[in-house]
Amino acid sequence: MTLAPPSTSPAAPDTVPPAGGAPLLRPHAEQAYAGELAALAAADTRTRPPSWRLSPWAVVTYLLGGVLDDGTVISPKYIGSRRLVEVAVATLATDRALLLLGSPGTAKTWLSEHLAAAVSGDSTLVVQGTAGTSEDAVRYGWNYARLIAEGPSPDALVPSPVMRAMTRGSIARVEELTRMGAEVQDALITVLSEKTLPVPELASEVQAVAGFAVIATANDRDRGVNEMSSALRRRFNTVVLPLPASEDAEVEIVTKRVADLGRALALPDEPPAASEVRRVVKIFRELRAGVTSDGRTTLKIPTATLSTAEAISVITGGMTLATHFGDGRLRAEDVAAGLIGAVIKDPSADPVAWREYLEGVVRDRKGWSDLYRACRDLDDDTSVFGGA
Ligand SMILES: Nc1ncnc2c1ncn2[C@@H]1O[C@H](COP(=O)(O)OP(=O)(O)OP(=O)(O)O)[C@@H](O)[C@H]1O
Ligand SMILES: [Mg+2]
Repeated sequence: MTLAPPSTSPAAPDTVPPAGGAPLLRPHAEQAYAGELAALAAADTRTRPPSWRLSPWAVVTYLLGGVLDDGTVISPKYIGSRRLVEVAVATLATDRALLLLGSPGTAKTWLSEHLAAAVSGDSTLVVQGTAGTSEDAVRYGWNYARLIAEGPSPDALVPSPVMRAMTRGSIARVEELTRMGAEVQDALITVLSEKTLPVPELASEVQAVAGFAVIATANDRDRGVNEMSSALRRRFNTVVLPLPASEDAEVEIVTKRVADLGRALALPDEPPAASEVRRVVKIFRELRAGVTSDGRTTLKIPTATLSTAEAISVITGGMTLATHFGDGRLRAEDVAAGLIGAVIKDPSADPVAWREYLEGVVRDRKGWSDLYRACRDLDDDTSVFGGA
């Protein structure tokens, strides 16, 4: 016997704003970019793998941006190497699973969500990996009231996102795979190699429909992660997402994401001063690398993760301060608090690294005296960063 698609599967994601009219705080990718996805689907004449909403070519265009023949502009979602995105999309078109690996804030989750949205039109089939994730979250669980009343039956079974993706021929996402215990991770092995999920209680199984694929993300730097078994690792094609290659690339990413987030937070449409974005990115890159961009001065590296994601929130935070408490123009004093908050995470080691950078680099850099002053003013007001 083969199970029919479970009756409990939820409807497509809700695109209707909740009562009261306030917009969703964070729409799913397929909601936020529904227009672009529809335009791509209409323009796309290339072959689509079974169950795919778009051809691999159109998925790559959705991710990297472009202009369609009818003039529709597709905005870039991921800024980086085309080849890398092509390899990721091609992997999903084979029967292998995709592992996005990289440092924090390198857009692993972001890319995984947009890939699922473009390929399956649904990015919501997600298992979040934590130390507490159980096998049920990867395979299936039971509605215990029904199980006790009726005994094991397909109606009493609660499918996991992975099982739902298998019955629909969609993409299942596994976030932070290596945070789950090794034995829970290994529950994926049968799914990935046999494309089936046995349900021994019902003497049955769920077989994956063509189009089913798994995208997992994992961090290569965080503490508290578990090793992946080699049996599981072999079932994934790994794509390593790099940190932005150059200062210009990182400035572009931050500027674009800040504009997107600013719209969601209803900040004025004015773009942040480019010079302010460049300054934050430069500071992050120098502290990350432990050396100034001219290669002359070695720096202490703070313990904080100074990823692109943190740069984005420093600028967004600064824009919010400037909008509500200033004249709307992003200035050094709006950036300073967020900057210090991002750099100083460990109150014993990080303040030393920060002071050294502030006094040794920021103070003497041409055109940076306003930032130096703003940081020093905050430094004097120790309460801003916990007496550091
Ligand atoms: N190359 C890039 N192109 C577009 N956006 C990027 C890029 N790098 C980082 N970002 C942005 O950085 C933010 C953080 O990305 P995301 O949360 O996906 O990181 P992550 O790799 O999953 O990090 P973590 O390991 O902490 O989970 C997102 O808003 C994303 O848009
Ligand atoms: Mg992530």
